Amino acid sequence: MDTEQLKKWIKDIKVNNLENADVEVENNSPLEMLGKGRQGAVFKVTDDICVKVFGNEEDCEREHYALSLGQHTDLFPKIHAKGKRYIAMDIIKGIDLREYLQSQPLTPELSYKLIEMLITFKAIGYERIDHHKRQIFIQPEGNLKVIDVARTVWRDRVYPYPRKLLTSLGEENKEIFLKHVQEMAPEVYEEWQHYIQMEELARYITEHALPENDKEKLREISNQLITTDDEEKYVKQLEGLVKKVFKEEWIKVMIARGAKPEKVMKKVDEYWDYRERRGSSKGYSGSRYSGSSRRDSDRKRYEGERSHRSSSRRDNRKRRHS
Ligand SMILES: Nc1ncnc2c1ncn2[C@@H]1O[C@H](COP(=O)(O)OP(=O)(O)OP(=O)(O)O)[C@@H](O)[C@H]1O
Ligand SMILES: [Mg+2]
Repeated sequence: MDTEQLKKWIKDIKVNNLENADVEVENNSPLEMLGKGRQGAVFKVTDDICVKVFGNEEDCEREHYALSLGQHTDLFPKIHAKGKRYIAMDIIKGIDLREYLQSQPLTPELSYKLIEMLITFKAIGYERIDHHKRQIFIQPEGNLKVIDVARTVWRDRVYPYPRKLLTSLGEENKEIFLKHVQEMAPEVYEEWQHYIQMEELARYITEHALPENDKEKLREISNQLITTDDEEKYVKQLEGLVKKVFKEEWIKVMIARGAKPEKVMKKVDEYWDYRERRGSSKGYSGSRYSGSSRRDSDRKRYEGERSHRSSSRRDNRKRRHS
């Protein structure tokens, strides 16, 4: 293959990614297009070599990396050249699994090859094994070849079993394949069953246990959370809130000045006691809490806060109920 000539042709091919659609191609080269997808378009260079031209460099890097992991196996097209946005590789001939299964049965021999393929994927370090049947080709000699491997690497989300392959087989062939796996690799079958059941459970929960939110109803009953309609309660709660903020801020300041937290708590308590004694005759004074027991609970609460923030929430609940 003449790489210099190839580079010139590629300059005359523009490939742009589109959102949720196959790439847009402007081909001013003499190369015939063999196919395209969301990441790139593939052109015939010689009878045995094609070039995949990508819409962006990252997809090209990924596919090149994924292909390079499998070059020592016979499962992938051999790489012949690489540029920032293209990879020249073997043309994969034969018939893809989608077409094949339209007229042929899924035999145990074919299932055996598919399991071998999954073993190779795992061995070479593919993180996400979810090939679709149209990306798998059966060669005239009976072995398999796989294309379009970029999505197998550099993934955040990975699947523990070949979900896409199974669903892409269709209900009937999925059952047949699973039966073959059960016979030939029973432990793997058990594990897949486990994941399939978990998936069914997840689907069930989504449908039944988490029904669509009834926003109207919630709006009606959420009035129960409103606190401003009863003036007496409102004043008490507001006072509680302000006190809480005051205490927090005051303690921060005093600690920053080098005071001991326990001493600050004591002082703040004494101050509130004084205020409450003075204010109790004037109505809403929060005098529910009498001196020492409140001091104790506050101090405990403060100490708890220092070790574990959430404990203050528990104490607040306790105080509300007391
Ligand atoms: N090595 C190859 N040999 C022969 N044909 C190929 C080869 N690679 C790709 N093709 C053809 O080009 C088409 C598009 O290639 P491919 O699936 O790799 O593109 P893609 O943009 O990565 O697809 P996707 O959107 O699924 O990621 C394939 O469906 C196939 O018909
Ligand atoms: Mg792809």
